[in-house]
Amino acid sequence: YVRRPLIAGNWKMNMDHVQGITLLQKLAWTLDDNKHDYERVEVAVFPPFTDIRGVQTLIAGDDLEIVYGGQDLSPNDSGAYTGDISGQFLDRLGCTYVLVGHSERRTVHQESDELLRSKVDAAYRHGLVPVLCVGEGLEVRQAGTHVEHTLEQLRADLDGLDAEKAAELVVAYEPVWAIGTGEVAGPEDAQEMCAALRAEIEKLYDADTASKVRLLYGGSVKAANAASILRERDVDGVLVGGASLDAGEFANIVRFEH
Ligand code: G3H
Repeated sequence: YVRRPLIAGNWKMNMDHVQGITLLQKLAWTLDDNKHDYERVEVAVFPPFTDIRGVQTLIAGDDLEIVYGGQDLSPNDSGAYTGDISGQFLDRLGCTYVLVGHSERRTVHQESDELLRSKVDAAYRHGLVPVLCVGEGLEVRQAGTHVEHTLEQLRADLDGLDAEKAAELVVAYEPVWAIGTGEVAGPEDAQEMCAALRAEIEKLYDADTASKVRLLYGGSVKAANAASILRERDVDGVLVGGASLDAGEFANIVRFEH
């Protein structure tokens, strides 16, 4: 691979701190039989905030090669922001990544591109790699303007970010109509958008930066369809929701075969 595939599980608001540890333990046992799983791909989980300390302790204690991140972060570092979580806190808990702009944040919490742009900065400020989520809803897809819509989100969320930082970035393409619906975008849809995203990154920066950024697909990924999506040239990984809550299913996604 030019880029190491990233197989990421977004637990969303599922798994309390006890269930989360059980899930991670099961995943670790399953993957442990296959040490080479970790050599081929990077495995990441995005637990709820309240699980992260437990996840950190388990991973450190058992010396697991699984990395983890927060599902969101505040654009601010500390202060009177009731209910928010700072990138600094995530960094102190050993997080590698943080999701920024997941479609559920954009829709349920009306997060704007302007806010997301400042969250991208906050992530880098604390040494976290943002996994920037972009993608269109059903109406936009039906109107046929999905590529332009998604590239516009990318441009707005990265506006003015320097090339060195951009090269570390992970971008997840998640068509909203395919999230949790059982509707999967076809591998060719994932490839079309990922190729367009990479071309846009090349336009904004340069070819070297574009070749380094990892692009994920997310939306009803399961063990049965992961391999065909991951086979696509510009798809460097998957962001898995529902199927990441089942250790066996998620492990089978990690073990996708080309
Ligand atoms: O972050 C993950 C995506 O929203 C996909 O969720 O696999 O349940 O469709 P899903």
